Amino acid sequence: MVARPAPTVHPFPDVVSLGRAAAHELCRVVASALAIRPHCHIVLSGGRAPRELYRALAADFREEIPWDRMHLFWTDERYVPEDDPRSNYRLAREALLDHVPVPRHNVHPMPTDLHDSEDAAEAYAETLRAHFSGPWPRFDLVLLGLGSDGHTASLFPGSRAVAEKERWVMAVRAPVKPSRRLTLTLPAINRARNVWFLVSGTEKASALRSVLMESPQPQRCPAAGVRPINGSVTWWTDSAASARLGLPGRPPNRPLLE
Ligand code: 6PG
Repeated sequence: MVARPAPTVHPFPDVVSLGRAAAHELCRVVASALAIRPHCHIVLSGGRAPRELYRALAADFREEIPWDRMHLFWTDERYVPEDDPRSNYRLAREALLDHVPVPRHNVHPMPTDLHDSEDAAEAYAETLRAHFSGPWPRFDLVLLGLGSDGHTASLFPGSRAVAEKERWVMAVRAPVKPSRRLTLTLPAINRARNVWFLVSGTEKASALRSVLMESPQPQRCPAAGVRPINGSVTWWTDSAASARLGLPGRPPNRPLLE
């Protein structure tokens, strides 16, 4: 069995500095990918910390990225119209895509306009297969959030999707609204070269500590199932989220359960 490298944790005082540092590093990942391949494939996510990264990219790093060589995908989507305020595509569009010269045909949002979300999941898998000829997609970078319940993408505790071994994309029902969603599966995420979790806020502190220090079962904490086979995991956190990790210079750990 190949040993997986330990995850790296980058703590920042606040979500804005987290977003800016991650944007800077994202440019480095893009440059490395484009030095050896014609295109760079990045998977975007919803959530507050990813939004700060998108804003920083648009504001400060717009000129650093050859946008015509980028292909952008999504980890998951709420099954709502693309202009709905709850849409993850809309979040990325408003924070990033409207402000950078990425060609429209390089942007691949998950479809949410088919009657049956199972058909939409299959359609998105076909979209991915048009870019990746192997048995699994090989993204350069997957951006993920973390829920206070341990969910990531739209993989929620106890969901059958957490155990999926074959499909790349699934239609799921989340225990929170909006319930209908599409999500990449763990094996599709775990083929990525780089996976970044972007995590901010006090309400994430227990889940973050659990994933990093307790190795919970993925069925209980789906984020713990993110373990790239031939890639790295990096955690970008603000001080509120990392408060229970006992990092140097941080307040001492408090017990996980109080
Ligand atoms: C979604 C997301 C989800 C999100 C986390 C964190 O559509 O709900 O993709 O996985 O990233 O729930 O979101 P926040 O950072 O906003 O709490």
